[in-house]
Amino acid sequence: MHNRIIFTFYILHFTLALASAQPHDWENPAVLGINKLPYHATLQLPSKEKDCKEILSLNGTWKFHWSKDPESRPADFYKDDFDVTHWDDITVPGNWQLQGFGKPIYVNMQYPFRRDRPKVTSEPNKEWYAYDHRNPVGSYVTFVDVTKEMLLGKNLILHFGGVHSAMYVWMNGHKVGYSQNSMSPAEFDVTEYVREGRNKLAVEVYRWSDGSYLECQDMWRLSGIFRPVQLWVRPLVHIADYKVEAIPNADYTSAQVTADIAICNMGKKKARKVKTLFHIENSTLSSQISTLNPKDTTHIRLTYLIHNPKLWSAEKPNLYPFSIELGEEHFDYHVGVKRVECVGEVFKINGKNVKLRGVNRHDHHPVTGRYVDYATYEQDIKLMKQANINFLRTSHYPDDPYLYELCDRWGIYVMDEANQESHGYGYANRVMGEDPDWREAHVDRAVSLVQRDKNHPCIIFWSLGNEGGVGPNMKAMRDAVVALDTIALPFCDTDRSQSDIYDDGYLTPDRLASEARRISDRPFMMREYAHAMGNSVGNFQEYWDVIYADSSICGAAIWDWVDQGLLKKANGIEYFAYGGDFGDQPNDGAFCINGLIGPDRVPHPHYYEVQHVYQPLQFVREANGFVRIINRDSFTDPSEYDITYDTITIDGECLLNVSACLKADKPWAKKGFAVASEQFVLTPYAFPALTPQRSSLNDFNGITIVGNSITSWIVDGHEMLAAPLEPYFWKPENDNQHAANFAQRTGVWREVADVSVNYTIINDHAVQVDMEYHPSGTEKPVIPKVGMRMRLPADFTDIEYFGRGPWENYPDRKRSAFLGQYKMSLSEYETEYIHPQDNSCRTDVRWFRIGSDRQMLYIKGLQPLCIRAWDYGEEDLEKAKHPHEIKRGQFVNLNIDMNVHGVGGVDTWGARTLPQYTIDGNKPYHYAFIMEWK
Ligand code: GAL
Ligand code: MG
Repeated sequence: MHNRIIFTFYILHFTLALASAQPHDWENPAVLGINKLPYHATLQLPSKEKDCKEILSLNGTWKFHWSKDPESRPADFYKDDFDVTHWDDITVPGNWQLQGFGKPIYVNMQYPFRRDRPKVTSEPNKEWYAYDHRNPVGSYVTFVDVTKEMLLGKNLILHFGGVHSAMYVWMNGHKVGYSQNSMSPAEFDVTEYVREGRNKLAVEVYRWSDGSYLECQDMWRLSGIFRPVQLWVRPLVHIADYKVEAIPNADYTSAQVTADIAICNMGKKKARKVKTLFHIENSTLSSQISTLNPKDTTHIRLTYLIHNPKLWSAEKPNLYPFSIELGEEHFDYHVGVKRVECVGEVFKINGKNVKLRGVNRHDHHPVTGRYVDYATYEQDIKLMKQANINFLRTSHYPDDPYLYELCDRWGIYVMDEANQESHGYGYANRVMGEDPDWREAHVDRAVSLVQRDKNHPCIIFWSLGNEGGVGPNMKAMRDAVVALDTIALPFCDTDRSQSDIYDDGYLTPDRLASEARRISDRPFMMREYAHAMGNSVGNFQEYWDVIYADSSICGAAIWDWVDQGLLKKANGIEYFAYGGDFGDQPNDGAFCINGLIGPDRVPHPHYYEVQHVYQPLQFVREANGFVRIINRDSFTDPSEYDITYDTITIDGECLLNVSACLKADKPWAKKGFAVASEQFVLTPYAFPALTPQRSSLNDFNGITIVGNSITSWIVDGHEMLAAPLEPYFWKPENDNQHAANFAQRTGVWREVADVSVNYTIINDHAVQVDMEYHPSGTEKPVIPKVGMRMRLPADFTDIEYFGRGPWENYPDRKRSAFLGQYKMSLSEYETEYIHPQDNSCRTDVRWFRIGSDRQMLYIKGLQPLCIRAWDYGEEDLEKAKHPHEIKRGQFVNLNIDMNVHGVGGVDTWGARTLPQYTIDGNKPYHYAFIMEWK
């Protein structure tokens, strides 16, 4: 007896010791989930979930408690008798930092907690947010009403679309399970814990977990239950999973549809005569399983042949809807017939060498963060289609399933990316790529990716992640992917040995050409290029000249789609915040503002350049006057568009505008929408001739000239100059230039030198300005701009001009901006960048009018001009970190230039504007314009 007591005591003691030595599940890469159901396909098309009687949405207002670290969390909150009535409310889905709890943190490559895997709570730098917030915990509670019918012969499954970063789940006080891998669904069987009436669902979410070591993506690091939560009330015998594929034969005259359907019996009794129906086209196939044992899963296979299939492509997104029925269960989905392959160096879809005109997209909403509502998805895909984008990389994790449904339906090729990035250990690191303790954690992310999305026709690549490791863990991911799907091709950026496509990023157009020539064992692509940070996307056509000329380059994807600004309200001012604006430490500032569109989904000027360069048809005017059409698409004939043309004549310049327009409405644009357009000059503009030069006068009826400047110009008794008209060669940096040390390299030009200006007074109201630049002395750096500036009265806010527009354009980004006569207000003329920087240029300006009801200044170039206009000065712009900090409205600042340094379009970490778009400081320049008051 005595012995036994000691023995029991010993066991107890041993278990306790074991428990305390056990790492937390959330700091243990061996624990990826507890009681999680296997990953499976999205069973019901997201757009049809509303009509699915089996799904009970648990979205809405939940009770919430936030703790700054695990120690201070309410550990007992899941218990039935724990009262949460006094807790805060929170909206699910959503991120807690955007609902008043804790801080969002924006970092690019580093971990926002102390790097010490698998731990996330080691002591970091004292300045860091994580120092005092050593892994915040969100405790969520909601109550679920369950009726008697929902319990009768049912299997209840709790579904979480996405929870960042790890969570425990309890139902009515019973521990249900644990999950990490935040961008993929987590499901738990809660049948045995649910009762009739009110049920308490408790979820404890950890901001960081060992999973965070694989979630080091360049984005806002946000937390919480950010995708929908559902309770699925399912028959005991139900469809656990299915994969439906349609493989075309060699000559595409038929396609073999295979439906592999997994059926499980969650009941306690044997199921008999389980009949599954598969409806496709007008046929119904069926299969009957005679018996299915309790807790057993079995697969059935049904096949069907489509004759003369309509192939799926982004251009012609033909879908074959199908449905699967098992007893009272009924799911609707669709399949597409397509083949993706590499034939030597050439990437092909349905036998054609397709070019991927791509973009990367983060799942981002300015108010709800990582939760993106369906309307925003629709707006994004619509804007992408309108911009002729045909390829989307879901950087850097799987998005909500609805996005893929839209891409299936509207036609966008997708690189679906696994939620795997260990950038905090370095790009292409071996630490995470080789460590066997992290193998399963990697593989879990590959499996969850393919399992959920395998039925989407839009997916052409499975990406193993972004900026992660190199080594056996990548190979294990690839092996897992190809074991589950053979239609889409595996892709890996870091470990090229695991990628069917050879990838490199952010090459200049020249490097792209030479690298693609050098690589000859597979197709070449740039998963990221044309870093669209701030005022960017110069030299975009240059990229595509290279891509179209080399059949081994399958395409490239812009970094990236949407500025990751978060709407912040402070002292009655609303603005888009970036890293550091929440006092978040560490942070990477405005490096998350790289979109083609703003957080509010308003396109930036460079969006239109992309739209133009990506257009499926190109127009070339031949010497004989004919316009030749080059078709860049693979499955669409130009005759499928209405090709229209129009000539316009402005001040003697005759312009031919050609467009290709939709013949019918599409889900993403109306009939008549121009998918391609081009402009040709038929009769060039006759710039005014130089007037015979007279020497400048010092005072002529109200004009005061001092040195090279006009310091005062009184017209009808009013001073027209808020600051002199003077030679000025400086322009503020944009983000690309800042990163390339523009100010250091060209800062000498803040002071003009070697310039002389000649003013020829035509009459009281008109002057011709001639500026000459003659470099002297030592070697000069490139000139930011060659021209003049002045300040005009603040009410000069009406603009009309003949030049390129209507949107902002620069010498290296003007192909989409056609010549025309445009009228707009000064505020429309300016571009307000979230991170203030140089903006508003219009190139090839023939004439420009600016003024108010009382006066107009008319500027006529003697050659094309570049004009920038702002209601603030260079110094205000250079100081401001956000648009609302700029002091506006005291004058109008006008730069009238011969030429401006191009915006650049390669990267924002050192690449310079291509030389052909810079201004050599060692050459002489002369330009002239006439200024006249009217
Ligand atoms: C890439 C990375 C992106 C983003 C970009 C810079 O290398 O994959 O996530 O960080 O650089 O904006
Ligand atoms: Mg990164």
